[in-house]
Amino acid sequence: NKTLGIGLAGFGTVGTGVWETLERNFDLISNRTGVRTEMMRIAVRDINKSRPEGAPVEKFTTDWKDVVNDPTVDIVVELIGGTTTAFEIVEAALKARKPVVTGNKALLAERGKALFALSREMNTPIHFEAAVAGGIPIIKAVQDSFVGNRIETMAGIINGTSNYILERMTDAGLGYPEALKEAQELGYAEADPTLDVNGWDAAHKAILLATLSYGFSIDPAEVYVRGIEMVRGIDIEFAKRLGFVVKLLCVVREHENGTVEIRTQPSFIPQSHVLSSVNGVFNAVAINGDASGESLFYGRGAGKGPTASSVVADIVEAARGFAQEAGHRGFLPYQTEGQLVPIED
Ligand code: NDP
Ligand code: HSE
Repeated sequence: NKTLGIGLAGFGTVGTGVWETLERNFDLISNRTGVRTEMMRIAVRDINKSRPEGAPVEKFTTDWKDVVNDPTVDIVVELIGGTTTAFEIVEAALKARKPVVTGNKALLAERGKALFALSREMNTPIHFEAAVAGGIPIIKAVQDSFVGNRIETMAGIINGTSNYILERMTDAGLGYPEALKEAQELGYAEADPTLDVNGWDAAHKAILLATLSYGFSIDPAEVYVRGIEMVRGIDIEFAKRLGFVVKLLCVVREHENGTVEIRTQPSFIPQSHVLSSVNGVFNAVAINGDASGESLFYGRGAGKGPTASSVVADIVEAARGFAQEAGHRGFLPYQTEGQLVPIED
């Protein structure tokens, strides 16, 4: 089996989850892909911060260039967030022809045009399943499963933090600041939670879904965005009395003249509608394709484990490029022995 050297930038909520998942499921991933993953270098901001027990601190550096330029690093995983240093990391990795995995929706929605152009020029991919809806495989669904459809609408709840806050305000009667604090402690919120509550985190995700579906570059300034900061307990109470719940809803819709509308806003959803029961950190995206009709994707939209799951899937996707002879999609692995539980009458 070939060794795939991973360079990781960021060892926070998601970076830690990626390291833990790769450690825990090393054999399984190796059997499925024919590739042994190995963490080579890890960039953090503060080398003295306390880390989970067993963390590979000997691989830490505070200079991300050490990660990208390390000759044993085959792919670069960017999990620091933000749009400045993260841009430099992704740009440098692509220039070095090292495939990139990122969960950074702000980076791709705001500055993706230049990065995807570079990615094409260098013939080096950027994988970003974790950037939209955490553990839900929505990027692959839009890129692969729905590729034969014209996407008519997409509607969903794609910010776990604001959905969690709204639920806690509704069911536990918590105030907005307390509910936000809980979401931060649970690792759902961004380092700066402003983007979660002002609607922009969800809008960035909607921009990425729309870009994949319609294939043109979207200027964030042209997107309608309202967040949940103005939602008060009384709004939630009124919604309840009228038979609705308040959710931060994203809608992407293609109009008949070919123009595309993208909106993110707190919305009244009828209590009878399936999206009304998407609570807490859960996300859901309904995709309406002209051939498929409506499909609904549901799962955890943020947090360590679910997001790491998507990042690891992308690492494996990149690994397959390094080991096309083994574990390729379309073939069953049949590499281990196993047994079913006997059926008893
Ligand atoms: P955290 O704030 O928990 O972690 C950020 C990490 O990046 C930390 O380890 C920090 O170092 C490191 N870092 C920050 N700046 C630098 C720098 N200049 N040089 C080197 N290291 C740096 O963020 P998350 O893990 O929550 O999020 C990471 C990315 O994943 C973001 O783009 C986010 O949008 C995305 N994401 C997050 C999800 C979530 O549920 N949390 C879900 C989906 C995507 P140090 O540890 O020393 O502070
Ligand atoms: N802060 C984001 C959220 C993380 O709450 O949905 C997942 O992208």
